[in-house]
Amino acid sequence: MRSFKLAAMALAGVAAMSFGANAGTAQQAAGKPATPWHNAALSPEQRAQALLRAMTLEEKAGQVSQQFMFGAFEQFAPVVRSGKVGSLLFVTDPAIINRLQKVAVEEMRLKIPLIFGYDVIHGFRTIFPVPIGNAASWDPASVEQVQQVAAEEARAVGLHWAFSPMVDIARDPRWGRIVEGAGEDPFLGAAMAAAQVRGFQGPAIGTPSHIIAGPKHFAGYAAADGGRDYDSVYIADTQLYNVILPPFAAAVQAGAGNIMSAYMDLNDVPAVANHWLLTDVLRGQMGFQGWVVSDANGTKNQVIQHFARDEADAAVRSIAAGNDMEMSFGPAASAETLAASVRAGKLPQATLDRAVLRILTAKFRMGLFEQPFVDEAAAKTVLADPAHRAVAQRAAERALVLLKNDGDALPLVAGANKRVAVIGAMANSKRDMLGPWAFQYDLPETVTVFEGVRDRLGASATVETAPGVQLKRNVPSMFESITIPGVAKPEPRWDAARAAREFERAVALAKASDLVILTLGEAEDMSGEGASRADLKLPGDQLRLFDAIGALGKKVVVVTMSGRPLELDQVLDRAPAILHAWYGGTRGGTAIARALFGDVNPGGKLPITWPRSVGQVPIYYAHNTTHSPKEQAKRYWDIPSTPQFEFGYGLSYTRFAISEPRITGGPLLPGGRITVSTEVTNTGTRAGDEVVQLYIHQRAGRASRPVRELKGFHRITLQPGERRSVTFDVGENVVRYWNGAVKDWVVDPGTFDVWVGASSNADQHATFVVGGSPRPAKGWK
Ligand code: BGC
Repeated sequence: MRSFKLAAMALAGVAAMSFGANAGTAQQAAGKPATPWHNAALSPEQRAQALLRAMTLEEKAGQVSQQFMFGAFEQFAPVVRSGKVGSLLFVTDPAIINRLQKVAVEEMRLKIPLIFGYDVIHGFRTIFPVPIGNAASWDPASVEQVQQVAAEEARAVGLHWAFSPMVDIARDPRWGRIVEGAGEDPFLGAAMAAAQVRGFQGPAIGTPSHIIAGPKHFAGYAAADGGRDYDSVYIADTQLYNVILPPFAAAVQAGAGNIMSAYMDLNDVPAVANHWLLTDVLRGQMGFQGWVVSDANGTKNQVIQHFARDEADAAVRSIAAGNDMEMSFGPAASAETLAASVRAGKLPQATLDRAVLRILTAKFRMGLFEQPFVDEAAAKTVLADPAHRAVAQRAAERALVLLKNDGDALPLVAGANKRVAVIGAMANSKRDMLGPWAFQYDLPETVTVFEGVRDRLGASATVETAPGVQLKRNVPSMFESITIPGVAKPEPRWDAARAAREFERAVALAKASDLVILTLGEAEDMSGEGASRADLKLPGDQLRLFDAIGALGKKVVVVTMSGRPLELDQVLDRAPAILHAWYGGTRGGTAIARALFGDVNPGGKLPITWPRSVGQVPIYYAHNTTHSPKEQAKRYWDIPSTPQFEFGYGLSYTRFAISEPRITGGPLLPGGRITVSTEVTNTGTRAGDEVVQLYIHQRAGRASRPVRELKGFHRITLQPGERRSVTFDVGENVVRYWNGAVKDWVVDPGTFDVWVGASSNADQHATFVVGGSPRPAKGWK
């Protein structure tokens, strides 16, 4: 599939060049570059330097400015002509992209192409599981493939850059954006971050059919006070280095071309103007080489944050801190004020030049000066590619987490029940199946749970559906005043009489059926940006519906859909089986039906600790232990302090045995390695996947360390009776940590516990020794 795609894109490239080729391209073809920066024999950096020398201060200030484009070409062409943007976001029509680009490369003095960015979060036309669902696959190779397909579709319409992946480590499920990340753990988060960057960008920036990745939000956004979106964040440096930053470091090491700075204050300094964060840490310690963009209006927000005096001050302070580009609704403060600020001596010209160079270098690396346009006809073929839907189905299957399966209630036997009811507010809702942060999807081709089950059972059963309840929509406030295709507008509310009728209709349908598949959870817009919640209960009348259907004595299996853990205690008490499906995307319903009827065996694991109650939040497995560890389970007197489901948990239709870990080598000395291996056996009767997880714990040292920390995982497929050896490498990078007293990375010698198993409660245990003396450890570079 991949090579076919690359060939198709290469052809698209040839066609694109024939579309109104700019002067530089035409002359280059004749062997003579129009300008030094059109000379493709020079490096992108050299070309950017040459172009910079030709630019006025106003042109530079425009280059570091990016605007949202919600509207028509006619409205935005003048903005491009004004020279006040170097980039636009949210244009996705290839014809409009080409027309705007034509203005930039034909009408403007220096013919600098625009770079087009977009939120390609979990797919473009083909929608994949939401990111937390992708993380639940514990399968970086699959997630890389997902983002490669997303990149291919985005590039086909003329986009160059994704504001993705979101790599914020989130430990508070009240925070709505937990759905956009990989969960609570820095090791899993780092693996998912790097995989996604590779998927978006390919082997190098500028690879055909790929786009630039923009990991976000740098840094700490997920730790918002109270889980309230955009609220202030206070994080100790130890947390920042050991928990929050590792996925960013992994993304940078994977070559991420862009980083988005976060909205909020980090320890009282707005992230967008935080020189320590954006320059000392990101560039100095991590070695980031690309450009930093602000979040939407992040630069101007410094005024709201009572940090900057006015917008001119804000533009100076963010660019001086290392935030190179300003993302803005309407005119950017940078475009409007930076030239004057340089002239007034408020900003060194070299600082503006540095930002411009970073942005131009990216444009050269993407090949935009050679090929600014996109082939409009070819886009349609790429977006319609059935192979992309196959990738979506597999990804949705791999994201499924089996939470409960008493008495092997699942899988169901197709044909065994003649009348099947698929009930629930989301049972037949196409938009909900896609999840938040999807805009360009094809609704008719999206498969709901009802449709998936109906198609799977064919003539062997009658399958019917009813919503039973209606969920109140949450329209994110940022979208209230603008219309974006795909953002749900509230559907008319049912009045009391309709609500009663629908409820009774669903119960009657259940009563007339032999089997009920009940979907419970949150509507898709109840998580995502501006979608935090103060409690984690099932919203609306869903519990009452569950009770009413449960009272009928029918076989009921539950499919939960949400972007965050929910309080499910009452459902867990009574439903024999619960399959958690997140939001599966375009082929979500097909994947769910295949799992329910045993065509695939769920093998996903929770990337986040699932609390019993919102009162436990934040709760995460990698906590430290303090006074009276025996009482650890009794930290509250009213409920257990253990979670409902631990991090890394997930069942299967088969069983696995995991042997005691065997350690080879040791003690671990500088530059050395040991290996930890275990034997995994499928002791059941079906093929299935196990995610074998490795956790370690430092018994003593120069800091108290978490009770256990994930340091390795492998998702493997075993046939019934099959046995496989799984090996993990342990080097200094596994045992190092950032020490708050030393203020640097260190390794502490001593004894370490190691566990292998199927979740963070893994109990197969051994120890190993780190030898030598206390020592500094290598940082990220
Ligand atoms: C979000 C970003 C997003 C940007 C552009 C912001 O409100 O925080 O994650 O990339 O909008 O849509």
